[in-house]
Amino acid sequence: MSKQQYGFAIIGAGVVGKTHAERLLSVEKGKLVVVCDTMAERAQEIADKYGCDWSDDLAQVLSRTDVDIVTICLPSGMHAKYTIEAARAGKHVITEKPIDITADNALKMIAACRQAGVKLAVISQHRLHPATQQLKQDIENGKFGKLIIGNGAINWYRPQEYYDSGAWRGTWEFDGGGALMNQGIHTVDVLQYLMGPVESVYAHCETLGHERIEVEDAAAATLRFRSGAIGTIVATTCAFPGLSTRIEIFGKDGSAVIDGEELVLRKLRSDLGEQSGNDISSFASVNKDTTTAADPTAIEGEGHIKQMNDMIAAIEEKREPIINGEEGYKPLEIILAIYESARTGRLVTLPH
Ligand SMILES: NC(=O)c1ccc[n+]([C@@H]2O[C@H](COP(=O)([O-])OP(=O)(O)OC[C@H]3O[C@@H](n4cnc5c(N)ncnc54)[C@H](O)[C@@H]3O)[C@@H](O)[C@H]2O)c1
Repeated sequence: MSKQQYGFAIIGAGVVGKTHAERLLSVEKGKLVVVCDTMAERAQEIADKYGCDWSDDLAQVLSRTDVDIVTICLPSGMHAKYTIEAARAGKHVITEKPIDITADNALKMIAACRQAGVKLAVISQHRLHPATQQLKQDIENGKFGKLIIGNGAINWYRPQEYYDSGAWRGTWEFDGGGALMNQGIHTVDVLQYLMGPVESVYAHCETLGHERIEVEDAAAATLRFRSGAIGTIVATTCAFPGLSTRIEIFGKDGSAVIDGEELVLRKLRSDLGEQSGNDISSFASVNKDTTTAADPTAIEGEGHIKQMNDMIAAIEEKREPIINGEEGYKPLEIILAIYESARTGRLVTLPH
């Protein structure tokens, strides 16, 4: 049944919790009713700014009848626990990425939401950028021909103070990984979304540029996609001062590069004809994106708004959200396979 307005609760009032509150202002049928954080002053600060209630008691928030949708903005290793609690309380859930940090937890949260009859969406806002959508459409329409190579690069910078700013950051228990699981997951997701499922990975992951972190700050993986195409993922948080992310797609009939959020190169044989194959005029592009590459609080784009609106539409249309639990699981599975390969020194085959 459609409602005039859907009540939202934000659980976790840190960096991304603030983004959710701000983005909700642009969600026509969404209303922020309460923000919850165990650090009450953080919840209070958002409540004061956006004119909603605050709480440090999750049970009380979940018992409210004016809350329809809960957004989980907690440390990554807590996503499953609180998603499952919210689902059992009958609330639809939008969780931040990664869906969780273990496959087991991710599958449990998918099952719990299904069992409770509530929707589960996982934030992956870069999938919805116009550049990604353009390439997705091109690939589906066969404009790139047979896919040959897909590369993703996340050359970001996080100073030691970033990791020191929260006890959970850089830990296996709550961050679940480093440059890949936290920063790189968006790019891993967009790459697999465009190139299709990954069949196997071989990787190195190291901690090379930071102290007092358990997880990797440098990762390099080679990929074989199920289609037969191959590719790479390189991720680091040591690349001072933080470069834009880059995705490169090469097919038999075309090449494309997304730099930051911008489609800086899209050359299709069907548009150019054979003779234009040597035109390199638009290849010279670096660092289009100075946002989250260097500043974790500068979360760009309208993807969050689109996914919040999509959740409301999914409820009303009785369909799955466009990035549901199963979709959110895909980049997690690839990253966990990369970690296993780095740990064992072996090629790891998916499904993992
Ligand atoms: N989509 C994006 O672009 C994006 C950007 C940043 C972060 N994230 C994701 O968002 C999540 C949170 O990251 P962050 O940078 O906002 O972290 P943060 O540390 O800034 O915020 C987390 C908040 O959760 C609170 N908290 C911890 N345990 C709690 C509990 N049991 N109940 C209520 N509150 C509790 C903490 O007090 C803190 O305020 C992570 O999973 C991260 O990967 C996504």
